[in-house]
Amino acid sequence: MNDSPIIKLFVVGFPKPFIKCVYKAHWITLTSHPQFNGKKDTNNRIQYSYCLSLGEAALKGNTIVSVHNLTKRFGNIIALDKLSLRMDYGVFGLIGPNGAGKTTLLRILLGLIEADGGSSIVLEQDTATHSFEIRQRIGVLHERPTYPSSLTVGHFLKRVSNLYETSEDIDILLKRVELLNAKERRIRALSAGMHQKLGIAQALIGKPELVFLDEPTSNLDVMARVDLLRTIRDVHRNEGVSFCIISHVLSELERVCDNVAFINKGKTVVQGPIQEIINEYSSNQYNVVVSDPHILCKDLQTINDVMHVEVTGAKTLTIMVTTNNPKQLRTDIERCARLKGVNVYEMEKSHSLEQAFVEVMRNG
Ligand SMILES: Nc1ncnc2c1ncn2[C@@H]1O[C@H](COP(=O)(O)OP(=O)(O)O)[C@@H](O)[C@H]1O
Ligand SMILES: [Mg+2]
Repeated sequence: MNDSPIIKLFVVGFPKPFIKCVYKAHWITLTSHPQFNGKKDTNNRIQYSYCLSLGEAALKGNTIVSVHNLTKRFGNIIALDKLSLRMDYGVFGLIGPNGAGKTTLLRILLGLIEADGGSSIVLEQDTATHSFEIRQRIGVLHERPTYPSSLTVGHFLKRVSNLYETSEDIDILLKRVELLNAKERRIRALSAGMHQKLGIAQALIGKPELVFLDEPTSNLDVMARVDLLRTIRDVHRNEGVSFCIISHVLSELERVCDNVAFINKGKTVVQGPIQEIINEYSSNQYNVVVSDPHILCKDLQTINDVMHVEVTGAKTLTIMVTTNNPKQLRTDIERCARLKGVNVYEMEKSHSLEQAFVEVMRNG
């Protein structure tokens, strides 16, 4: 007997992609087959009715991973030191410097190694006792993966699909990661970006609810990084698959993640929605666009609260201040600019995940 709340959905038009997306998210499960009503509304659109029931994860606020006081030692090295964190449904960024414990955490979540203490739950199942069941429901792209280089992309994915005993449509899989035109290419002939996309494609085999990607952009050039992260975002948006991206390339994570955690020396330093963290921890730095930054640069140093001024572009100055009063700062800058005959076009606080990270690490 299923006592989850039931949602009755009545929709018009062509709702299949929507239903597919909701269904694949797994936090809402379709309990009855879609019933085609066959009627048309006044705009000649076909009407459908569906019956959905909320899955367990939805009832628990969409938490997909929760880790409590996790500890792991390798001899004298403490890789994880009572680490606690929570990942919600969406795209999650696990950020930390080299040696912070990111890969160790991943290996425990996958059940590849055992923790010395604490607990970890993935998709509502305990990693210590249910790693087999968890692995059926997740996908992984490991750090520095190697694939059989003499196989073609299509052949390799077919083999992985057979291993999972799923009849995956390889063409659709390759389309999802924009790699269909490389299907007949041998793996050794792929570019670094294509290689990582192949890694995402193999991680998506078996319709996982959650995919872990360990440093997926580390050896890619800027264009390939942007492209790969867009692919990840699209797969999440279109199909509801959650991702955990482990990385230290912060500027790119900013564009793709909903929530992040900073970890350092085996501990979680800060975690939460990305915008909240950026707003809270970004230092007091402003970007000011003016008609002539060089003329103004020295004078701005004399303003109270201004610590440092730098010309950072043909029309921009970056100013570090101690004040939390941007109104007064703007008035002071405009006064200086007027005296020098310089126009101020724009002034805004510069927010970035990178700045927030530096600030958090400096203080903690
Ligand atoms: N198998 C291992 N044997 C000994 N030390 C290890 C092992 N795996 C990881 N470590 C150590 O644990 C710490 C965390 O490593 P890791 O989780 O790989 O960090 P990250 O992925 O954040 O760079 C590091 O000091 C690393 O040297
Ligand atoms: Mg690592």
